[in-house]
Amino acid sequence: MTGPLAWWQKGIVYQIYPRSFQDTNRDGIGDLPGIQRRLDYLQSLHVEAIWLSPIYPSPMADFGYDVADYTGVDPIFGTMEDFDRLLAACHDRGLKLILDLVPNHTSDQHPWFLESRSSRDNPKRDWYIWRDPAPGSTPDNPIPPNNWLSFFGGPAWTYDEATGQFYLHQFLKEQPELNYRNPEVLAAMLDVMRFWLAKGVDGFRVDVIWLLMKDPEFRDEPPNPDWDGVDPHDSLRHIYTQNLPEVHDIIRQMRAVMDEFSQATGRERVMIGEIYLPIPELVTYYGKNLDECHLPFNFHLLDTPWEAQAVRRLADEYEAALPPGAWPNWVLGNHDRHRVASRLGQAQARVAQMLLLTLRGTPTCYYGDEIGMEDVPIPLKKMQDPRALNQPEIAHIVGRDPERTPMQWDDSPNAGFCDPDVEPWLPVAPDYRTRNVQVLSQDPTSMLSLFRALARLRQAEPALHGGRYRAVEAQEHPESVFAYLREGEGARFLVVLNFGGKSHTLNFGSVASSGRIEVATDMRHSGAVALDQLELQPNQGLLIRLGPA
Ligand code: NOJ
Repeated sequence: MTGPLAWWQKGIVYQIYPRSFQDTNRDGIGDLPGIQRRLDYLQSLHVEAIWLSPIYPSPMADFGYDVADYTGVDPIFGTMEDFDRLLAACHDRGLKLILDLVPNHTSDQHPWFLESRSSRDNPKRDWYIWRDPAPGSTPDNPIPPNNWLSFFGGPAWTYDEATGQFYLHQFLKEQPELNYRNPEVLAAMLDVMRFWLAKGVDGFRVDVIWLLMKDPEFRDEPPNPDWDGVDPHDSLRHIYTQNLPEVHDIIRQMRAVMDEFSQATGRERVMIGEIYLPIPELVTYYGKNLDECHLPFNFHLLDTPWEAQAVRRLADEYEAALPPGAWPNWVLGNHDRHRVASRLGQAQARVAQMLLLTLRGTPTCYYGDEIGMEDVPIPLKKMQDPRALNQPEIAHIVGRDPERTPMQWDDSPNAGFCDPDVEPWLPVAPDYRTRNVQVLSQDPTSMLSLFRALARLRQAEPALHGGRYRAVEAQEHPESVFAYLREGEGARFLVVLNFGGKSHTLNFGSVASSGRIEVATDMRHSGAVALDQLELQPNQGLLIRLGPA
């Protein structure tokens, strides 16, 4: 990188799932005034930006990822005035606000789709992806045009009797997909971006950006020979519905709008793309001239086996694959994936937190992970996620309610998320009396105190938010220890992470003779250490400041 770092490079992004953060109007669902009420807390985490999952008017078939009006606010979350107040309050405190843009599909209640489905010759017919039934269909038995599948179970096509054609939806049938081969669609979406950018929002996280283009010939997708037999969507190789070369042109045009606003106002706006792809393909989404996503989300920590060498290989492979000038980023959790504390256990979740906040690149933290919130098993009667309800046989695997439960603020009934006499939209975790912001803030050894210590140091130290990364051999115990240096502006840090349950004595004498522990994941160790005989406790991570090289 040349020049000073931008805010989206230096700072932490904190994801809020608005339904689950803070209710203020007693409907058991979080809202914008609730987020505003918690800004002190967000500042105490030393985060730079908050990203809100969708807040737009929506029938909520997929909890806001089915947008019925791209330039409004759903009454469940508040009013446009509430939004304006929240944005101003964030900016007053120097916090950035990032919105979720959902361009791939609308709600089936969006006026564009209502028009599109009204007749075959409606001017908006071609805004969505309509196809005739496959040969061999009869009026009683229309056969989908090809074998494409929905992520949420069943075919990606729904038949519209009134006009005798199928429309495409890779998610719910309530989420018809827009047709980006029609230039009017992109023009309309760019206007949506302009609307929010003109209000002053600091960026977008763009939903399923790698899915925006589909095969113009609508060819069948081939079977996936590596399918594990669990999620039917994985039974095909999605070569005609994902990652098509033409998608990059669409993304460049979106990015150009962001850049226009950055340049005109002197305030950098960021575009973060949701992309689940292997690293070599993922990094193409920075764009050939770094003219696409500022940050193509790197989700690889979510799927890489939690082993020291696997994570090291991941970090090294990613660093090596980044195009010149491209800025890395890391994610440990989001509203679609099981919580990190449940995937790895509480002890390793601390190690993961240290990894996230000390690797090179922008970290994204999912609300509640900073207090070690765990997945909450949701009984069938209370399940809300359509992905689970549509596929009851694998609901416990693919259901996303467990990671979307109310934020745990204190030990009052409903954990301070909503009033004690109100029923929250999803049950509060059973451990809320002991695992909550209020209790953990008072405990200097808690996960929350660890998060704050790491975030504070990361913010203060250029070596940590902007310095170089270099893996270091942990010769004695490579199977369980991953160590690396962060160096820059005259400062050097050594991070040593124990992925296992055994203690080790390690020799890092070739790096430096001594150092000082700045943060230990257990929050019980500090002070000077000799590096040729470094004691590492089970499941412990150490962030060590080294003397000048
Ligand atoms: C990805 C979002 O993160 C997920 O929650 C949503 O269901 C799908 N995209 C469809 O918008």
